[in-house]
Formats: sequence, structure tokens, C-alpha cells
Amino acid sequence: MTEKIQPSLRWGVIGTGWIATEFTRDLLLDRPDARASHSFVAIGSSSTQKGNTFVSTIWASASSSAPRPTVYDDYHSVYNDPNVDIVYIGTPHALHAQSCLDAIAAGKHVLCEKPLTINEKEAQTVIAAAKEKGVFLMEAVWTRFFPLVSSLHSILHVEKRVGGLHRLFCDFGLDMQMSTLSPTSRVKDPALGAGALLDIGIYCLTLARVILDGKAGVEASEPEVMSTMTIVDGIDYSDVVILSYPPSETQPQRTAICTATVLHKSPEDFCRVEGDLGSVTVFGRTAAAPFGFRIKLNESVEEEVLEFERPGMGFHYEADAVALDIAEGRRENAIMPLEETARMMRLMDRVRKANGVKYPQDD
Ligand SMILES: NC(=O)c1ccc[n+]([C@@H]2O[C@H](COP(=O)([O-])OP(=O)(O)OC[C@H]3O[C@@H](n4cnc5c(N)ncnc54)[C@H](OP(=O)(O)O)[C@@H]3O)[C@@H](O)[C@H]2O)c1
Repeated sequence: MTEKIQPSLRWGVIGTGWIATEFTRDLLLDRPDARASHSFVAIGSSSTQKGNTFVSTIWASASSSAPRPTVYDDYHSVYNDPNVDIVYIGTPHALHAQSCLDAIAAGKHVLCEKPLTINEKEAQTVIAAAKEKGVFLMEAVWTRFFPLVSSLHSILHVEKRVGGLHRLFCDFGLDMQMSTLSPTSRVKDPALGAGALLDIGIYCLTLARVILDGKAGVEASEPEVMSTMTIVDGIDYSDVVILSYPPSETQPQRTAICTATVLHKSPEDFCRVEGDLGSVTVFGRTAAAPFGFRIKLNESVEEEVLEFERPGMGFHYEADAVALDIAEGRRENAIMPLEETARMMRLMDRVRKANGVKYPQDD
């Protein structure tokens, strides 16, 4: 019997900050359950020294057989490197649109960190460019690819363990020590897309959609939206977004209360979903990286606890999915389709507009 060959991707990474480090580390881990293999062939950074430090730090602990990538002191050399199959964009939000367009123009597939862009207008431009060029494009909303999320979806929407869903509360708070940050920090500078909604609130909105709606992209329903934001120096420090899903043939009216803040760390139990027959509490470090959930049925005093260990941070789930898509000729992913990115951007545009948070890209 011949062994099935796994799809493989040769990555080029641009930006060598926090997320690019975690993403690269994860993909270099030895994983018995890997569905694809990943190698890194090019790193683009603002300086060779920074790029070299990124490589030496990560590769010091990576498997010794992992070949080291070429380091460039610019991003264009990564787009133009013939050995690169796909570009991973790990720069601040405001740079995403141009980097996506440049990588796409060079004929590369793209996995871009969230949010794909600053607003829907930019997202539609990037999506149109990828479609025209015929390359793969996805916004890296890694949480959607966790086995925990598909298990939760199945328990709530297929097994319907807690019956019809009514309400969801989800909080993503981090104490970002705002007063100590430089005005040029990506979480403080409006020119870089700073603000709680685009940085972390997006995860609560994502979980609300996945959990209460259960569908993505063109199949998803449109909720009514109410919101308030606490704005300091032009950026939202804290947000409350209420999504109200009208009743459908199969589901009652559902309400999501999504909150985010850069001022306080949220508790471990950051999300609760309530249904006719009981509730589910999702817990973990943050709403971006849930670790498990507890099911509590009204008729029972016991809680059922499900925990989902993962190697590393869990970025390989999205990366493996991307590799499988590309190997099979797909140009977008069914879990995070491009229409879903556009809808999420549209939703966040609406919330910002209602509260007067504007970025230069909105003009
Ligand atoms: N999926 C997640 O859970 C998650 C978590 C955190 C962040 N993110 C997303 O990832 C992106 C980057 O976030 P991060 O926390 O990794 O940021 P970061 O640590 O500040 O790193 C960003 C990198 O982008 C490059 N860069 C280019 N122009 C820059 C500028 N004007 N200011 C700062 N950096 C610049 C720098 O790399 P070089 O100098 O090497 O070019 C920098 O190291 C954001 O869009 C964020 O939303 C996602």
C-alpha cells in the first residue's frame, strides 16, 4: 500500500513580531497528527539584524532538521522569492492591505493576520485582487480552526445538548498597560489601526457568530447591532457590542453581548452560552485561545468538562487547513470564507461608525 503524500507549503513571513514568532514556532513543532508539512524559506523584516535574531531564536529550539530561511531586510524580496509558495503577514493591521496586494501581485498565496484590513472597503479590494490573480487568500482567524470550536458547534447545533440557544456573553480583556506604551505602539497608534475592537473584540464577535449563528459566509444571518465604545485619544479602549439574531424556522431569537477592553484581564471563564436545557461555559487564557468548556444541564447538578490539549499555541490547525485547500486547488477556505471576512469587517465598520471611531483608511 502506498503512503499518502501530505501537502506541503513553503512559507515566507513578513514582520518578525510577537505573532509571527508564535506562528513560526508552532509550524516547526513535530506533530504526530500533522495533516500537512510546513517549511520556512524566507523572512522579511525591517532590518537584517532583527530578521536574523528572529531566525536564531526560533531555530535554536526547533527540530534540528528544519532548514533555516533566507533573511531579507525588506518585504518585497519575500514576495518575489521563487521558493515562496505562501506569504504569512504578521505586521500591524494598517499595513495588511498593501502587503496583501503586493504579495498577490507577485502571484503568492496569502495568509494574513486578523483583521484582514482596517475596513470592508479595503478588504473587498484585497479579495477582488486575489480572485483576479487566482491565488489563495485567508484572514488568519486561527480560533475558528480549533477542534474545540468544531466540537462546540456540533454539541450546540447538531446534538443540541442545551436546546434552543438564547443568549451568549463573551469578554476579551487584556491589561495592555496603555499608559506605559509609546504613542507609536501598534495598540496605541490610530495610524496603525489601534483599538480594542479590531485587535481583540473581533474574537468575541467571531465566537458569537460561530456559536449563535452556526453558519459562516453567505449562509450566515445578519444580526441587528447595538454598541457603545469608551474612546481615549481617538481609539476604543473598551467596547460593548450587542448582536440580536431574529428568530428563524429552527431557532428562537438570540442575543450576544460581546465586550472587549485593553484595561483589564478577563476571567478564565470568558464566555457563557445559555439555552433551553442548560448552559455552556467556555474557558481558557483568552477568547482567541479557548482551552475547554463545561456543559451544565438544568436537570443535573453535575457539569461535564471537555478540555482540548494542543501542541504549541494551536496555529498549525489553520495552517494545515490552508495547505490542504491549496493542494486541492481551492482558493478560499470553507471555515473562514472571504465573504465571512467581508461581513466581519462590515460589522466592525458599523460599530466604529456608530461610535465615531475613524481611521485614515475610512476616507
Ligand atoms: N491571531 C492572534 O491571536 C493575534 C495575536 C496578536 C496579534 N495578531 C495580529 O498580528 C498583527 C501583528 O501583531 P503583533 O502583536 O505580532 O505585533 P508586533 O509584535 O508589534 O509585531 C509587528 C511586526 O510588524 C513589523 N512592522 C512593520 N511596520 C511596523 C510599524 N510601523 N510598527 C510596528 N511594527 C511594524 C515589525 O517587524 P519587522 O521590524 O521585522 O518588519 C514588527 O515586529 C496584528 O495585525 C494583530 O492583529 C494576531
